Amino acid sequence: MADGLPTEIDLSRPSAARVYDYFLGGAHNFEIDRQLAGQIASMTPNLAATMRAGREFLRRAVRALLDAGIDQFLDIGSGIPTVGNVHEVAQAANPKARVVYVDIDPVAVAHSRELLAGDDLTGVIHADLRQPEAILAACRAMGLLDLDRPVGLLLAGVVHFVKDADRPADLLATLRAAAAPGSFLVVSHATFEDQPQEMLDAQRLSARTATEITLRSRAEITGFFGDWTILEPGVVHMPLWRPDSPSDVDEHPERFGAFGGVARYDQPAG
Ligand SMILES: C[S@@+](CC[C@H](N)C(=O)[O-])C[C@H]1O[C@@H](n2cnc3c(N)ncnc32)[C@H](O)[C@@H]1O
Repeated sequence: MADGLPTEIDLSRPSAARVYDYFLGGAHNFEIDRQLAGQIASMTPNLAATMRAGREFLRRAVRALLDAGIDQFLDIGSGIPTVGNVHEVAQAANPKARVVYVDIDPVAVAHSRELLAGDDLTGVIHADLRQPEAILAACRAMGLLDLDRPVGLLLAGVVHFVKDADRPADLLATLRAAAAPGSFLVVSHATFEDQPQEMLDAQRLSARTATEITLRSRAEITGFFGDWTILEPGVVHMPLWRPDSPSDVDEHPERFGAFGGVARYDQPAG
């Protein structure tokens, strides 16, 4: 466990993880979270669908990584384990797949530990993405993942909680530098690009949670992949990333408010 993180549950402010859990139909949320969720939903009826689209993107990306032979995942900003979590998707394809979940939210961490108790192939770390070295150290100490082998780094819907002042590109670079060639990076991230005003207003409401959202451009989000090879179809509005069926793609995929992409660390030549 990383040092210095709050272990108490703060009920005076809504939590991003619990609001998200509410939108996904989970039970791990409090009145204060539901109030904010209600407010956000009344401004953008599309938002619950947006959150589900984020989850669907993550599942498709995890399946793509499994197809590429990845059997271990470090899921940072994993949230409250609602239905269809990463280890369920991964272990359905490969029963030996290992997953380590990392979250800053004590509720998400407590529920993850409860849900995963007795599962030897999964682990949970309470840590902050803004301290990537602490995450990597805790992950190594846990001994569940072997970072000398290719790993799937999952940062779905989390980097937008990191402010520019905390240098998100540097944090991502630290994580990439710890990964072996053949590793993959999955990122989904809220954006202002192509968004209607009501979406931008709703995103602004996130400032009421303990963790405010920073919307970023496609170029900034693409930068989080560094010099890794971005897979087709690139950094795109989430529903457009390898949809299971063309009919799954809404007429306005940009309204889901976030870009998603996947990149691979190819062995440097020479
Ligand atoms: C929107 S949820 C995404 C959950 C999951 N990754 C998904 O895509 O379904 C974002 C999660 O990131 C967590 N989070 C926010 N800031 C974080 C930070 N600095 N370090 C680690 N986790 C963080 C929140 O607690 C929340 O559980």
